[in-house]
Amino acid sequence: MDQSTMKKIILSILSVACMNIFADIVWNKTTGFDAWTNPLNCTISPTDDGLLFTIKANNPCVANRSVDIDPNQYNTLTYTYRATGPIKHHGHLFYAKEGQGFSDYRLWKLPVPKTDGEWHTVTVTGEVLAKPWTWFNGGNIKSLRFDPTYTGEGTYELRKMKLSYQENAAMKFDTLVLAQLSDPQIGFKDYDAEMDRFRQEINKLNNSDCQAVVICGDMMHITNRETLTVFKKELSRLKLPVYIVAGNHDVAQKNSRPIFEEFFGPTFYAVDMPSGGYRLIVLDTELWQHPIEALTAKMDDFFQKELDAAKNANKKIIIATHAPIFIESPDEKEEYFNLPKSRRKWLQDKLKQYPVVAFLTGHTHTAFTYQWNGILFSSAETTSVSFDKVTYGFRRFVFDHDLIRYNTVPVK
Ligand SMILES: [Fe+2]
Repeated sequence: MDQSTMKKIILSILSVACMNIFADIVWNKTTGFDAWTNPLNCTISPTDDGLLFTIKANNPCVANRSVDIDPNQYNTLTYTYRATGPIKHHGHLFYAKEGQGFSDYRLWKLPVPKTDGEWHTVTVTGEVLAKPWTWFNGGNIKSLRFDPTYTGEGTYELRKMKLSYQENAAMKFDTLVLAQLSDPQIGFKDYDAEMDRFRQEINKLNNSDCQAVVICGDMMHITNRETLTVFKKELSRLKLPVYIVAGNHDVAQKNSRPIFEEFFGPTFYAVDMPSGGYRLIVLDTELWQHPIEALTAKMDDFFQKELDAAKNANKKIIIATHAPIFIESPDEKEEYFNLPKSRRKWLQDKLKQYPVVAFLTGHTHTAFTYQWNGILFSSAETTSVSFDKVTYGFRRFVFDHDLIRYNTVPVK
């Protein structure tokens, strides 16, 4: 069962068990449109029934920056309006979380208003969300912007607007948009510049359509409690689920493994992705390059069980590690940047037997992509030292059924 199905089932059980927890959020004559302010390209005035927009230019809108909405409790929008004039474009309800601006990634697309001067009630569900996961990810909704239309003329009167929860309202969660960061490794060469680029990435991620982030190892160049405290504080600004992969700078420095685990937990784990039926398996390649006998055996056992479980559950698998299996050829000689040959063969044999779609890595500080046995291997651009001197940045993957697309999102 994927996460969205699970969420719907839990919500429907909860809604039956405890009807009052999903109290509707309503704006109308009684509860007031007072918090809807800062009209742009229109004037607004209260009426006996609600709020009247007199539209002056394209893209009229009004914003409410004092909401605090738990997105998990609302999946349906209902509003009542009447309109006149030459309105011919559809409208939008934008939403934003803490630290976010309004964006085309985060909106409900509303139908073109009818301009017969009669009252109409429209109900839309999660089906009209541009990117449904942006409704759920990143905490409560802190601001809304209502654009009745894009057209620059006419009048529009809003009598009632309501957010509610309907058990069967659809939320499309077919695709997965996942960001891959490789080796932030702050302090490798130029601490301030590397920190600045990492901060730029967080800003870009917070305003992207990415649903989750994987960091493929090497958070800081030097790993100790002080440096990881700094890193974690910076990372706390990220409004997306983030999955940390252990790199050699994280777990292979003197005493760094227990400190890293103290900050980020186990170095091998698996988690369902927010959508699309994907399972992310995170592994610790340091345990293959420099085995710690009992721990390496434990990870191998974990990996096998996760592969079987994902296959049985009909999940597609994404693997994230620090070191790549190989860089240019499966037969290349063993070195610092790839996996030992015996382990390489063992891993390739496994990959052939399971529905693995992508293998995300770092470590080399070079950006590359190849496909082997139907699996996409990706080493993303970095924000620390780039040995191949390509752009700094991260990769944004769209897993769309059988198609995988990616682009690099650069930072300066
Ligand atoms: Fe590195």
